Amino acid sequence: MRKEGTSAAVSGNPAGKLPLLFETKLLVATLLAVSLVIAIWNFQPYYDNLLSSTTGGRSSTTSSTETTTTLPLPAEKLSTSKPADPNKRIFTSYGNAASLFVQMGAYRGGLRTFAIVGLASKPIHVYGHPWFECEWISNNPSSSSSSSLKAKAYKMLPDWGLGRIYTVVVVNCTFSVNPNEDNSGGKLIMYAYYGESPEKYEKIVALEEKPGSYNESNFKPPYKYEYLYCGSSLYGDLSASRIREWIAYHAWFFGPRSHFVFHDAGGVRPEVRAVLEPWVRAGRATIQDIRDQTEFDGYYYNQFLVVNDCLHRYRHAANWTFYFDVDEYIYLLDGNTLESVLAEFEDYTQFTIEQNSMSSKLCLNDSTNDQDYSRQWGFEKLVFRDSRTGIERDRKYAIQAKNAFSTGVHISDNVTGKTLHKTEMKIRYYHYHGSITVPGDPCREFLPVSARKKGTTWYYYDDKLGPFVYDDNMKKLAHRVKLLEEKTIGAVHV
Ligand SMILES: *[C@@H]1O[C@H](CO)[C@@H](O)[C@H](O)[C@H]1NC(C)=O
Ligand SMILES: *[C@@H]1O[C@H](CO)[C@@H](O)[C@H](O)[C@H]1NC(C)=O
Ligand SMILES: *[C@@H]1O[C@H](CO)[C@@H](O)[C@H](O)[C@H]1NC(C)=O
Ligand SMILES: *[C@@H]1O[C@H](CO)[C@@H](O)[C@H](O)[C@H]1NC(C)=O
Ligand SMILES: *[C@@H]1O[C@H](CO)[C@@H](O)[C@H](O)[C@H]1NC(C)=O
Repeated sequence: MRKEGTSAAVSGNPAGKLPLLFETKLLVATLLAVSLVIAIWNFQPYYDNLLSSTTGGRSSTTSSTETTTTLPLPAEKLSTSKPADPNKRIFTSYGNAASLFVQMGAYRGGLRTFAIVGLASKPIHVYGHPWFECEWISNNPSSSSSSSLKAKAYKMLPDWGLGRIYTVVVVNCTFSVNPNEDNSGGKLIMYAYYGESPEKYEKIVALEEKPGSYNESNFKPPYKYEYLYCGSSLYGDLSASRIREWIAYHAWFFGPRSHFVFHDAGGVRPEVRAVLEPWVRAGRATIQDIRDQTEFDGYYYNQFLVVNDCLHRYRHAANWTFYFDVDEYIYLLDGNTLESVLAEFEDYTQFTIEQNSMSSKLCLNDSTNDQDYSRQWGFEKLVFRDSRTGIERDRKYAIQAKNAFSTGVHISDNVTGKTLHKTEMKIRYYHYHGSITVPGDPCREFLPVSARKKGTTWYYYDDKLGPFVYDDNMKKLAHRVKLLEEKTIGAVHV
C-alpha cells in the first residue's frame, strides 16, 4: 500500500534506461513530470484513505519527505543505466487493496502492557511475515527513564482460518517498565512492518496518555462491574421485542453491578434502539456504533475484531466477562446462584457453557389457559427443547478478562490459566436459534396441550422428525424479569 506510491515512481525508472533519452533533456524532464504526476495521483487516495481510516495514521510529513527522496531517483540512474533488456517486464500497480493494518482500538492493559486491536490484510499474514514493534515517546524529554522506550511486541490472530480479505490481529506490546512512570504522558507508537525487511513499515500512533492520566488503581480489583457482557456484531432485522426481553432478562440475571456492551453493525434499527435506550440512560448498557466495519471484509461483520476490542477495552472493568449472543439466555440450574457458581470457578480463567437448544417456532396450543397469550414474551412461549443427544453444539464462555490476551467467539485460546468445560450441571444457556429475526409473534407452529405432559414429543421440524421435550424453566422466571424491568426503566411499550 504505502509502497505503491513508490512503485509508481519506480515505474518511471526502466523507461529512463532507454538510450534515446540521453540525448533529450527535455524528454527526461517530461518523463519526470509525468511520473511525478502519477506518483501524486497514486498517493492522493491513499493518504485520504489512511487518514480517515486510522486514528493518527502515518503522518503526512513523513510521507512527503519520502516522496521527495524517492522521486529524483530516475534522474540519478539515467547517467549510469545499461541498455534496456527488452525481456525485462514491468509490473505496474494501481490502487490500494487491503491495508497493512486497520486500527480499531488500543488500550493499556496494565502497568507495562498494551494491546492494539485491528485488522490486517489476510494474504500478508498468510504468505508474508509482517511484524510489529512498539515504542513509547514521553511528553517529557528529560524524564528519568529516557524519553523513548522500545517494547517487545507479539501478534495474535484470533480468527485465523476464518478471515476473508481481512483477518483480525491483536498486537501485545509489553515494556520492561511502565513507560509512563512519571505520568507526564506520552504516545504509544506501533511500527507495522510489511515483511522481514525492517525498511518497509508504517508508523502508527496507537494511543496517547495525557499528563497525569495514568492511575494504577484502574488496573486492580475491585472492578467497576461484577459482570460484563461483550456482544458481537449486531446486524440484520432484529426483533425489537426479542431484544427488549433479552436485556431485561440479563439485567435481572446478572444483577445491578453488570453492564452490557452492544456493537451495532446495522442491526440496531430505530425500534431496537428504542428498547435499548432506557437501559443506556440507566447506565446499564453501551451501544458502540461499528457500522463502518462494512468497509473491511472480514469474518461475519468482523465479530472477532469486535470481541477482542471489547476484551481489551474492558479488561479491568469486571470480574467476569461473558461472550454470547442475543438469542441466548444464560441459566443457572436449580439451587445455584451466579455468585456461588462463579466463586467455585474462581481458580479458572475461563469456563465454557453448554447450550439447551430450543425450538424457535414450536409453542403450546394453550391459548385457553393463558390469558393475554399474544403479549407473552418469547421465552415464555417457546417451551420445546430439542432433546436429541450426541450432537456437537456450540458453546459459549466467560473469562476473567485480566488473564486473557485475545479472544474468540466460542472460546478464548490465548489466556493464562485453566479452562473449565464441565459446567453443565451448574450453568447453561438457552438458545433460541433463528428467533431473533422473526417479526411479530415467535410461535409459528403449535403442539397440543398433551405435549406438556408427555416426556418426549416427536415432531417434524425442518423436515426431520425430532424429539422435543417441554421445558418451562425460562417461562417460570418471566414474572420476576418483568418486575425488574419495570422497576429499572419503567413501563415499556413495544
Ligand atoms: C485513582 O483512581 C482511584 C479510583 O478511581 C481514585 O480513588 C484515586 O483518587 C485516583 N488517583 C489519582 C492520583 O487520581
Ligand atoms: C469480584 O472481585 C472482587 C475482588 O477480587 C471480590 O471481592 C468479589 O467478591 C468478586 N465478585 C464476584 C461476584 O465474583
Ligand atoms: C388449538 O386448540 C384449539 C382447541 O383445542 C383448536 O381449535 C385449534 O385449532 C388449535 N390451534 C392450532 C393452531 O393448533
Ligand atoms: C501481553 O502479554 C503478556 C505476556 O504474555 C501478558 O502478561 C499481558 O497481560 C498481555 N497484555 C495484554 C494487554 O493483553
Ligand atoms: C496465542 O494463540 C496462538 C494460536 O491461536 C498460539 O500460537 C500462540 O502461541 C498463543 N500465544 C499466547 C501468548 O498464548
